[in-house]
Amino acid sequence: AVVLHVAGARPNFPKAAPVIRALDRPGLRQLLVHTGQHYDERMSAVFFRQLRLPEPDINLGVGSGSHACQTAGIMAGLDELMTATRPALTVVYGDVNSALAAALVATKLGIPVAHVEAGLRSFDRSMPEEINRIVVDHLSDLLLATSADAVAHLGNEGIAADKIHFVGNPMIDTLLDNLDRFDVAGIRAALSLPDRYIVATLHRPANVDDPAGVIDLVKAMHAVADQLPVVLPLHPRGRHHLENAGLHSHRALRVVEPLGYIEFVSLVRGAAVVVTDSGGVQEEATMLGVPCLTLRPNTERPVTITHGTNRLVTRAALAEAVATTLDAGRPATWRTPPLWDGKAGERIAEIIAGVLR
Ligand code: UD1
Ligand code: UDP
Repeated sequence: AVVLHVAGARPNFPKAAPVIRALDRPGLRQLLVHTGQHYDERMSAVFFRQLRLPEPDINLGVGSGSHACQTAGIMAGLDELMTATRPALTVVYGDVNSALAAALVATKLGIPVAHVEAGLRSFDRSMPEEINRIVVDHLSDLLLATSADAVAHLGNEGIAADKIHFVGNPMIDTLLDNLDRFDVAGIRAALSLPDRYIVATLHRPANVDDPAGVIDLVKAMHAVADQLPVVLPLHPRGRHHLENAGLHSHRALRVVEPLGYIEFVSLVRGAAVVVTDSGGVQEEATMLGVPCLTLRPNTERPVTITHGTNRLVTRAALAEAVATTLDAGRPATWRTPPLWDGKAGERIAEIIAGVLR
């Protein structure tokens, strides 16, 4: 049997790596399709080198574009590929356009779909990812959930219980698998950072796409840098607007290129505070016990708040929240969310192997 994995954007790679590894067994052929949604060396190739991911069998090379054009381009490429290879199952990851495109094409060809990270909901349909989550979940035959709230959302939306499996978080498998490679002292030395520093990432359209809003965001980030040096590996999406709004003009705010996974998680591990609007980074900060302030009005990952170290903040409240968090230090009590134990990939592989039998 052939299992086709579809990945294409940065957060897909640490989720796919443990699943592909655990599914490696005789009689099962795995094909990895890279859609080309992300293509810069630092947004893609570095993850293949660092995460023991096999080279993609095919790269569709779709590149950037409007949502419609990007999704359609991936669909056209996958249509041809899936028709030729007739996989027994397609596995899609997360909430990116690559997952949406793959789920649509596979379902219409009668190919079952497994969704890794099913059931997350921000209940905010202005987020492009929320649309992708809903559509992918309702097309999928296997819904592989990272948290109990996700399982509940799927049930509430009428998805049959026998399709839903609570498997844990494969992105956390990757984190645990690499724990002894995270070198805080090394990355601090490489970036000339003091003992205490803040790491930030910004890329949500709601934060970085509107030039007027970006001005307030830059002010807020500068008020953070007034308190402690900040290092910000900048996602290409935000580059233009943030630079125009003067992000770089604060001398304690260091803007760098996107980092490799090992370097980035090393930075998070050593940080006094993380400021982010990323989905995955909220989870990684929780797992490492590092206080996380999320610049969003909502999160589809509530266990990072109920169990972990995460807090939602507005731009206006950010500087004050950083001050309070720096005073409080690392939280003494935080819990690892259930089943974030490094074995999600194995659970997913067993479920997939079971349905292919
Ligand atoms: C995508 C995902 C988002 C995810 C993010 C992770 C969707 C709808 N969004 O957003 O959920 O959080 O990836 O990083 O799928 N660009 C480059 N080089 C690259 C890739 C992108 O310069 O290698 C620039 C291009 O100008 C592009 C822009 O970034 O237009 C946005 O890329 P795109 O893939 O459309 O969305 P992201 O914002 O990266
Ligand atoms: N990441 C990275 N280098 C960076 C920033 C993030 O390797 O400079 C990793 C991060 O550790 C996590 C993933 O990228 O594993 C999260 O991806 P991103 O924030 O782009 O997307 P989201 O999770 O918001 O969809």
